[in-house]
Amino acid sequence: MTTPLSPIDAAKYAAAKRASLLVESGMKVGLGTGSTAAWLVRALGERQRTEGLHFRATATSSRTAALARDCGIEVADLDDLGWLDLTIDGADEFDGELQLIKGGGGALLQEKIVATASDRMVVIADAAKEVETLGAFPLPVEVVRFGWRTTKALVGELLVGLDVMGRDSTLRMNGDAPFVTDEGHYIIDLHLGRIAGVRQLTLVLNQIPGVVENGLFVDVCDAVVIGHSDGRAELRDPGAGTSEVLRFDFAGDDNIFTEVGD
Ligand code: A5P
Repeated sequence: MTTPLSPIDAAKYAAAKRASLLVESGMKVGLGTGSTAAWLVRALGERQRTEGLHFRATATSSRTAALARDCGIEVADLDDLGWLDLTIDGADEFDGELQLIKGGGGALLQEKIVATASDRMVVIADAAKEVETLGAFPLPVEVVRFGWRTTKALVGELLVGLDVMGRDSTLRMNGDAPFVTDEGHYIIDLHLGRIAGVRQLTLVLNQIPGVVENGLFVDVCDAVVIGHSDGRAELRDPGAGTSEVLRFDFAGDDNIFTEVGD
């Protein structure tokens, strides 16, 4: 007897399960971070166990590396793998052009390095992550600890000249202390509401000396798998001009896989 998944988990599961089928034996794969990516890691562990799928993996965070090892997946350093065939990762928001906001889990720097070192980057997300315009989700900016208040102030000043709706920013906390990333940095979340020009904003932010990287992934994502709570997963691939829907019903270790049409 299996406990049914919540609607949101059913959607994440469906997206992750569909995306796991994109991994082929012999591939070098980047594993994303977050709750949706965690489903992916479990699905790949299962394919490795049950089908003998053989792939080499690198992780985008210490959390994902630990989970992957728990699932029996060997995790290599990115530098040992070199260029990757495919990275699959979650997102906090994606728009119609597949531009993204990422970093809600604090792993944006490694995520961007890994995604950029991949032939193909596929986002897995539940349908609620799709937006017309990015920005309702706070944009994470990873900054060095030295002089972070000054960097925060500078970010605020530069936002004045840009087409955004709000300009508040907050230091991300972990309880009473600042949240610290895997690379030892802080994160400042920008509450912009709406970002009219993602290309300009990412360039401006990354010109500030104290900024290490920001959570806008511009022209990085190639395709998206959108999961729905009824188990449907839509693979949208604008490059190939295709959109295809499959269905995945969660049944514990015994997963049913049904095609429901284009
Ligand atoms: C991690 O830093 C993020 O970029 C995640 O990929 C993003 O927050 C999506 O996470 P969920 O799958 O948990 O929503």
